Amino acid sequence: MFEVLPKLPADPILGLSTAFKADSSSKKIDLGVGVYKDEQGNTPILSSVAKAQTQLLSTETSKTYITPQGVVGYISGMLELLLGKGHPTLLENRVAAVQAPGGCGSLRILSELLKRCDGELTVWVSDPTWANHIPLIGNAGLKIEIYPYFDKENASINFEGMAECLKSVPKGDVVLLHGCCHNPTGADLTKEQWNTVLELAQKQGFIPFVDIAYQGFGDGLEEDAYGLRLLASNLPEVIIAASCSKNFGLYRERVGLAVMITETSAIRDSIQTQIQSIARGIYSMPPSYGGALVDIILNDQQLKAEWMNEVEEMRVRMQSLRQLLVDKLKEKGADRDFSFVTKQKGMFSYLCISPEQVREIRAKHSVYFVESSRVNIAGISQNNIDALATALVDIL
Ligand code: LMR
Repeated sequence: MFEVLPKLPADPILGLSTAFKADSSSKKIDLGVGVYKDEQGNTPILSSVAKAQTQLLSTETSKTYITPQGVVGYISGMLELLLGKGHPTLLENRVAAVQAPGGCGSLRILSELLKRCDGELTVWVSDPTWANHIPLIGNAGLKIEIYPYFDKENASINFEGMAECLKSVPKGDVVLLHGCCHNPTGADLTKEQWNTVLELAQKQGFIPFVDIAYQGFGDGLEEDAYGLRLLASNLPEVIIAASCSKNFGLYRERVGLAVMITETSAIRDSIQTQIQSIARGIYSMPPSYGGALVDIILNDQQLKAEWMNEVEEMRVRMQSLRQLLVDKLKEKGADRDFSFVTKQKGMFSYLCISPEQVREIRAKHSVYFVESSRVNIAGISQNNIDALATALVDIL
């Protein structure tokens, strides 16, 4: 029976790691998968996380099941981080949430929930969007449409095109937005643009679905939640998928949060049972470990302060790497102005070069990044910047 299924090509993002490992060049550079790296190219366990692990090890007394909702202190801590302390939706008991296996798990559960609400519903995603959004949402059986977002020619957001398109989105459709640090472009909406998105949502009646996987990597933990909080404060319904992979460095532990802000507290209570039943039907309940670590960190003042410093360190380092790349490209004589890279936010930058050039730089110089021209800024270091800039200028 199984012969009916063909072999699939490698995942456009995860496949890069396999290809990189298999490359025997001593000069190879990995700017592929979105994982933070330090100056030595390592992805260390955050010091706050290491301390939480020690604490958990000495206090955990059982491995019995946790509740279907997840680790309670994790959920409350994360909701506060996302929405801000004492947010009206929390005080009004309008927020349903379950801990989910990573941002992906959250996106999938929420997509399944949307399908249960309305089988005909369409989700609008940005052009471009993170490659895995399409399978995560599409495999739940939802229709997908695309709205303009990024103008590759000018290396900036095409907000006029986006707003014009959103004016045609019908009531009840869902619009997926990146809360901050847009993946793959690194081009974020300004406050004014978020305000316009809110006005359009109010006028059209579409529901925002905010994917926030890089909180703290753009302008700061509070600043990066601006758009999300604006929508949550002013709309009856908002959907949120959050991830702790990046800002807690808990990639392999799969820690995410699926959130639904509902119009009333009574609807919230129904939706809470629905999202738990969806999770039960797929994997029963979330793994505890990563959520337990985040619970410890967010609910301990000292550890939380330490973690916030670590996030800030990562953010500032990535920002300085953007400048380093732009300066080096100039120094090496690039005949194009790459200063737009310093305006982009978070872990990714869209270099706005062609797929052919991306394939060429990989074949000739063993520099690995996504074919769309997305580079992981955190993969740049003092050790590889010279070779990277030389290689880029060569293929330009
Ligand atoms: C990325 O965008 O590189 C990361 O979020 C990893 C992934 O799952 O694609």
